[in-house]
Amino acid sequence: MAGLWCVNVGYGRRELAETLKIHAERLGYYHSFSSMGTDTPALLAERLIALAPAGMSKVFYGCTGSDANDTQVKIVWYYWNVLGRPEKKKIVARRRGYHGVTVMSGGLTGLPGLHASFDLPLPMIRHTTAPHRLWEAEPGQSDEDFAQKLADDLEALILHEGPATVAAFIAEPIQGAGGVLVPPVGYFEKIQAVLRRYDVLLIADEVITGFGRIGEWFGSDVFGIEPDLITVAKGITSGYVPLSACIVSEQVWRVLVEGGAESGPFGHGYTYSSHPLAAAVALRNLDLIEDEGLIAQAVSRGAFMHERLRDAFAEHPLVGEVRGQALIGALEFVAERSPAKAFDPALKVAPRITRRCLELGTITRALPASDAISFAPPFVISEDELDEVVGTVRRAVDEVAAELRSEGAW
Ligand SMILES: Cc1ncc(COP(=O)(O)O)c(C=O)c1O
Repeated sequence: MAGLWCVNVGYGRRELAETLKIHAERLGYYHSFSSMGTDTPALLAERLIALAPAGMSKVFYGCTGSDANDTQVKIVWYYWNVLGRPEKKKIVARRRGYHGVTVMSGGLTGLPGLHASFDLPLPMIRHTTAPHRLWEAEPGQSDEDFAQKLADDLEALILHEGPATVAAFIAEPIQGAGGVLVPPVGYFEKIQAVLRRYDVLLIADEVITGFGRIGEWFGSDVFGIEPDLITVAKGITSGYVPLSACIVSEQVWRVLVEGGAESGPFGHGYTYSSHPLAAAVALRNLDLIEDEGLIAQAVSRGAFMHERLRDAFAEHPLVGEVRGQALIGALEFVAERSPAKAFDPALKVAPRITRRCLELGTITRALPASDAISFAPPFVISEDELDEVVGTVRRAVDEVAAELRSEGAW
């Protein structure tokens, strides 16, 4: 799992440790308030803009994906306030989406377990249908028709709420923690047409998909997404130090500047926004990805991983779906395959499989809100290691399947 989908360049990277040491001795910290700043965050911002999809212009740093998504919502509200449309406040996210756990981002996350007893989501948050073929598509439905149904659901929600009140839509290019859900072909094209029709900004949450995991620098490039705002974290430093960023388009930035001229500075920032050590590690991490051709490697090792996963599980009676793209994947377990029928969650099928995998030496993750386990190895994983992973998981799945049978639970 590369930690939590983040140690993309792998463990034990001396280059990153050395960078940290050099920069800690050079300038351990300085802030970025009141027109102050340091060089490495500025250099990193230039690099991020050059790598990001067209139209991106400025970068605001944070420490976690959660705080960056909170910042995105503040940017969105400020934007619409400056444009004289203060009623545009609602944010639409998707069920099974994962955007963090702070008061705002926890509500954007579409997992009921993260809302219960926390009074979340906040009242201005709405959720629409997840692109989860196994549970949301009709049997045999084409990608085209499924994508259309999902876009229609979004449009119906926006119309029900009143387009004048809907400020932004947030989406991961591939939903990670919610199940590793790859959207049907044409999904983002149709979704973006709906958003444009009703003047709704698009936030691409690239906390997992940024920096190569799904085969391009940004997942937005894989799916033809043209975001107004992009959230990144995790892979930006391969997890070696905490860092996140909101990447802001020129079009949004211009409005923020206009607002600043009228009502003073954008009153937002943390002690550790623009931390020089984190930015230095991020720059070195991006060098490693570039110099070692790790994105191409994520594609080729990913193809190998999916081939092996399909060989081992496509026909397995306990497995309802094998899915993913490049170096992210998942298996979802079902009581019956066709039509798909879920297990009673109390049986904890995925957690049992994960535990058995761990005993056998492979770390996978049982995902919340679905009976699925995920794979997101470092980009440097070898084919032999992938064979070992898939072999171990197959053994664990077979053993748990036999246990379920002997318990009369399946
Ligand atoms: C897509 C996505 N967004 C946001 C977050 C939240 O990031 P953090 O845990 O750093 O707050 C995560 C974490 O897994 C994530 O996967």
